[in-house]
Amino acid sequence: MIEISHLRKEYENAVPLQDVNATINDGDIISIIGPSGTGKSTLLRCLNLLERPDSGRIVVDGVNILDKNVDVHQVRRKIGMVFQSFNLFEHMTVIENIMYAPVKLKLLSRQEAYDKGIALLETVGLSANAFSYPDSLSGGQKQRVAIVRTLINDPEVILFDEPTSALDPTMSSEVMSVITELSRTGKTMMIVTHEMHFARQIANRVFYMDDGIIYEQGSPEEIFDNPKKEKTRIFIEKLRTISFVIKGRSFDFARSYGEIEKYCFKNRIAHKYAMYLLSISEELVQQIMVNENNYRDIRLEIEYSEKNSTIDMHIGYKGKKLTIDEESVSFKILMSRVSDIRFSETEGEYPNRIDIRVKQ
Ligand SMILES: Nc1ncnc2c1ncn2[C@@H]1O[C@H](COP(=O)(O)OP(=O)(O)OP(=O)(O)O)[C@@H](O)[C@H]1O
Ligand SMILES: [Mg+2]
Repeated sequence: MIEISHLRKEYENAVPLQDVNATINDGDIISIIGPSGTGKSTLLRCLNLLERPDSGRIVVDGVNILDKNVDVHQVRRKIGMVFQSFNLFEHMTVIENIMYAPVKLKLLSRQEAYDKGIALLETVGLSANAFSYPDSLSGGQKQRVAIVRTLINDPEVILFDEPTSALDPTMSSEVMSVITELSRTGKTMMIVTHEMHFARQIANRVFYMDDGIIYEQGSPEEIFDNPKKEKTRIFIEKLRTISFVIKGRSFDFARSYGEIEKYCFKNRIAHKYAMYLLSISEELVQQIMVNENNYRDIRLEIEYSEKNSTIDMHIGYKGKKLTIDEESVSFKILMSRVSDIRFSETEGEYPNRIDIRVKQ
């Protein structure tokens, strides 16, 4: 068990940890989420003694690890850490990277470290790569090696700081599934991640960090479906929507469509629906543009609800109301992709609205 009380860490220009308090029970899998710069990494770094807090206590199984006479290496063996950037030694093979620390610290003989390393590599699907050098591996493979390098010390707790954010989607998935496997072994884990689907499905508890504290904590359902506090709610809301304003015909459509695809991937929306969203928005934006001689702004918002598994698109635009040719082929194609479409006029900046629910 880890008890964190009144943890404070300040830098010259920032106070990432104001007053952090938490109890982490054995076997807890905790996802830590929150906006950038809210001290998520700093908290993990304090737990791993890479950073010295200014005040407070971190009591691990009855021992305050911030005491001067505590052996740092011993703490790091007990509380291992996996970083975003892997941090492998490039001049050593995979197995040498893994054997390095336990052999150097005389915790294992070379033979023991080798045998254990090979066995662990097998569990992450990399036994064939034991004698490769890191630069011949993909990012996902490097991260799996980094996980093994931590596991060889039999840590009781593993801290992950954005383990997948340097990786492309396929590689992220392979690393997430290795971490998910690990989570089933009963190890205590704390995972800082911006992958919300992953954060939700892996954890039994979620910490939302903001304002230098654990601003809100709860079960994944509580935090993702029913956040109680203002900032958590705003953060969670933002995750579910993506919006942009199309200003002028020279607008960078390719980039926004890329953003939509990324948004769909993050929310685990099937690729088919990402394609629907793209073609619906393309069609309607086209129509609105053709309808106007003088170009006016168009605002596009996509909102996904995991709870109801619905995907909605809201388009607002200025200028003339769109008259749609309902007999046109393009409109018929559009209608085959939506289960509901409403045209309305409202007050406000974008008086014409089109609300669409994507067909599932
Ligand atoms: N070594 C340092 N020296 C000075 N300021 C630092 C240092 N490390 C972090 N900070 C500052 O502390 C704040 C919190 O940083 P931290 O890296 O913990 O945030 P984070 O929640 O992990 O953000 P992100 O999601 O972007 O990784 C930031 O304002 C950062 O600039
Ligand atoms: Mg960070």
